[in-house]
Amino acid sequence: MKIDAARIAADLDLIAGITETPGGGSSRPTFTPQWAFARDYVIGQAKTAGCDAIIDPAGNVHIRQNAFGWTDPAWLSGSHIDSVPHGGKFDGVTGIVVPLEILRAAHEAKRTIPLELIIFAEEEGTTFNLGMLGSRAWAGTLTMSDLAKLKNRDGVSPLDAGRAYGVLADQIATHKLDPTQYKGLIEVHVEQGPAMWEQNIPISIVTAINGRRQFACTIRGVANHAGSTPMNYRQDALVGFGEIAVALEALPKTLSPSTVCTIGQVFNKPNAINVIADESTFTIDFRSSTNDILDRGAAEIEQTIKSIAAKRKLTADIKQTEALPAVALDEGVINALRRAAKHVGLDNVSETSSGALHDAAILAPLLPTAMVFVASKDGISHNPGEYSRIEDIAKAAELLAAVVQRGDVA
Ligand code: HGY
Ligand code: MN
Ligand code: MN
Repeated sequence: MKIDAARIAADLDLIAGITETPGGGSSRPTFTPQWAFARDYVIGQAKTAGCDAIIDPAGNVHIRQNAFGWTDPAWLSGSHIDSVPHGGKFDGVTGIVVPLEILRAAHEAKRTIPLELIIFAEEEGTTFNLGMLGSRAWAGTLTMSDLAKLKNRDGVSPLDAGRAYGVLADQIATHKLDPTQYKGLIEVHVEQGPAMWEQNIPISIVTAINGRRQFACTIRGVANHAGSTPMNYRQDALVGFGEIAVALEALPKTLSPSTVCTIGQVFNKPNAINVIADESTFTIDFRSSTNDILDRGAAEIEQTIKSIAAKRKLTADIKQTEALPAVALDEGVINALRRAAKHVGLDNVSETSSGALHDAAILAPLLPTAMVFVASKDGISHNPGEYSRIEDIAKAAELLAAVVQRGDVA
């Protein structure tokens, strides 16, 4: 089978152009016309390569060759086509165009291969404020009623927003992943960090994925006059938020080198030039490689917020919105990748862990799972400047194709 790097490049360019923010990176929220147009492009490409597609009740797309049965055990490989606002062209899409290209190459070589391409619905979490919705619904760790509580920017749940795109709310509970239909999962993704690029490592096998805790917090004080309220009379929610933000930025280095903490979203009320703020609402995204540090860090986050609020006579409302464990990936799949690497000229292929989360982490408890990383230029991601070399992505496709063709079981 011959992997065609030019076709991979063409896919990436075309999908990158399907965005709500032309000239401003990839903005493709799940269950929008842009997301559906990109999804349908992939389905169309696969159908011309002798494949068929089904959309499951959670909105995930499953693609296999017509000649290969839907219930026969296949390698699962895929990622997401949704993006963060103003994201890059490689995040998620790389993990879709790689298996797509393998299916096209197999069709040209008249080969039937045990490979299912999947497009997971809503991986990023920036559309409905919770990530990996499609994979969690398919894995059974998110129910229809959980999904009904989530809302997008228009106040619409994924069940209602997804109806026009194949979501069947009342069938989500009965349509779950059947592990007997899969040999394992290999998700290809860009590293989104600087290590591989700095060490000139094009491809790495991913052996673990960091865990994540997310929080939604509101700090409340007293609105007051900016001119006539002496400084020692103030209960300023925005300044309280500021002190918390600086304290949380300093927390990770007290825990471990792989620990990170991000405040990505803040809303301030009344947000007026001459009013002392009475309410600041913000999100916290906390990650680390061990569950012990995730537990310790979550406790320190709550303690830090509460003590700063008390000192400033503010109130703090802290809600943990997500708690995902650190995940060690499957030794059997990792060994299959190590063996296959030798066949594609990747002797001594390097290995790494993932700071970013992926749908692979959701399915790892159910299927033998590993990932393959492609180097990201200067580690830039979630940014229109995101870049990876096409030849590295093509090499990742050769590696995945070698595993799929070797008939290895994990
Ligand atoms: O946040 C993440 O780790 C991924 O980009 N959704
Ligand atoms: Mn991603
Ligand atoms: Mn992402």
